Amino acid sequence: MALRTLLSRRTLAATVRPELGSFLGLRNLVTFSLPDLLYDYGALEPAISGEIMQLHHQKHHQAYVTNYNKALEQLELAVSKGDVSSVVKLQSALKFNGGGHVNHSIFWKNLAPAREGGGEPPKGSLGWAIDTEFGSLETLISKMSTQGATLQGSGWVWLGVDKDLKKLVVETTANQDPLVTKGATLVPLIGIDVWEHAYYLQYKNVRPDYLNNIWKVINWKYATEVYEKECPVH
Ligand SMILES: [Fe+2]
Repeated sequence: MALRTLLSRRTLAATVRPELGSFLGLRNLVTFSLPDLLYDYGALEPAISGEIMQLHHQKHHQAYVTNYNKALEQLELAVSKGDVSSVVKLQSALKFNGGGHVNHSIFWKNLAPAREGGGEPPKGSLGWAIDTEFGSLETLISKMSTQGATLQGSGWVWLGVDKDLKKLVVETTANQDPLVTKGATLVPLIGIDVWEHAYYLQYKNVRPDYLNNIWKVINWKYATEVYEKECPVH
């Protein structure tokens, strides 16, 4: 079952000043809504507590969605008025909140309850690629955990695939930057949120403990599906 619809459409005319409605009436603004999780908030325990999952999803992810939609409406208005300085000013809000929505939408799919296969090692071509490029799954996990633990401030650690080179990469991004900011051909397979809001209620300031335990609920099946789509076996 896929995450629920990510997009909704509504006319901008309904959301901006009425006098602009006739001018903008034919434009449709594509906004986002919070996707449902495929599992209950408590289903990832004990690796990640239900309290963290609920707050993370309902408060943090929702805030990125709300603020992205708000910035998008402001952008549309600024564009319609030819207000270049406002268009430029909105870029950071769009990047931060849009990135937050993109990253968290991936993150929820990267997790699965242990009873539903969370933590089970990848099979098939992704398993082979990991062994070939990193030596073993354990080595890859260690590399990602180390990079996540040592990332300064807030951000993400990623396993991605370069879809042109057909090569796996480990990268980190700051704040809510998506993986694509590190290379236009990079496709995320696994993204781990290392913001404090992802672990502090349960692990306090010990980010390495969170990173040790999250692998018990990583959904390698999802990562394998994305990898095989980008790197089909001929
Ligand atoms: Fe987060």
